[in-house]
Amino acid sequence: MHQETLLGRPISDVDTPALLLDLGAAERNIARMADFFADKPCKVRPHTKTHKLPMLAHAQIKAGAIGVTCAKVEEAGLFIDHGISSVLIANQIVGITKIRRLLELQERADVIVCIDSLQNAQALSNAAAEVGKHISFLIEIDVGLHRCGVAPLKPAVDFLQQITRFGHLRFRGINGYEGSLFSEDPAETQKLCRESNALFVETRALIERAGFEVEICSAGSSNTYDLSGSYPGITDVQPGAYVTMDACNAHYGVPFEQAVTILATVTSRPAPDRAITDAGKRSLTSDLGLPICTAEGIELRALNDEHGILGIASPENPLQIGEKISFIPTHGCTTIPCFDEYILTRNGIVEGRTPIIARAATR
Ligand SMILES: Cc1ncc(COP(=O)(O)O)c(C=O)c1O
Repeated sequence: MHQETLLGRPISDVDTPALLLDLGAAERNIARMADFFADKPCKVRPHTKTHKLPMLAHAQIKAGAIGVTCAKVEEAGLFIDHGISSVLIANQIVGITKIRRLLELQERADVIVCIDSLQNAQALSNAAAEVGKHISFLIEIDVGLHRCGVAPLKPAVDFLQQITRFGHLRFRGINGYEGSLFSEDPAETQKLCRESNALFVETRALIERAGFEVEICSAGSSNTYDLSGSYPGITDVQPGAYVTMDACNAHYGVPFEQAVTILATVTSRPAPDRAITDAGKRSLTSDLGLPICTAEGIELRALNDEHGILGIASPENPLQIGEKISFIPTHGCTTIPCFDEYILTRNGIVEGRTPIIARAATR
């Protein structure tokens, strides 16, 4: 059936492979996060790099989010084009092309970037000076992830003091992402998160003692929103994956509903213990392990480019060629951009479709 004529049809009529977004589940996830923060001083600045959809960002803002977080300048641009007025780019913007784009975007929204080197600070300040503007920034602090960021505590204060010599930058606060502290043991996750939060907030205090005003102290993810979001001194958290969810977050106990699934069709049934689907590596990613088949007694064993290879536990399993079968992605952030569009569903019925607006925003 042609996708245009799908409105009001059951999801089993959708052509495959397809990315389905259960709107009811996404709305409940947004509401659950908003409820947690409703009576707290900390706010939500959700990361958009997983869902990549302005429609969901607007729903998050309507529920109380104070803006969005993006990973790339072009991603920020697409959300601003679609009416978002406050964007934190939780990343370093390097290279004159991107910096000029950032300056353009600042004309239309409050855009904040993260800095962790004097070289980048100088480049940003020089480009801003050329057009008589200032660029808002947070200092990126390495709170234990050992990705980017300057060291916490005194080195961060020293760094900020050196940055003040660049005249066209405006200090807004600090960014300290600790979100991928996943451990099988929840007590261990909690301990690691507390340690990161403590370092982060002590850094804030030292910066304030040195005479700077800290407006933003941003941290957190879907995995740590409740811990970081309750830690005194953290002003906002950046959870992303919670809206759409994935099997990896669910494995670590992140308490949100699975809202995205990948629908596939059985294309071959070559042996009693094997079936093949049309969803291979170009529809399902496996950087965090093989996706989960939702049908009982069936597991995804391997992915080829355009084939999914399923193991069937029982030889009596009646699974037939042409049947539809669905998968939970292990990593939503890498799976969602495999597709051009979401098929929007509610209670098993197709309610619409939408292009994944920021899908190609990799710059
Ligand atoms: C800086 C930053 N903030 C927030 C997030 C959101 O994390 P999650 O999608 O796990 O909620 C990420 C994810 O990688 C990130 O890199």
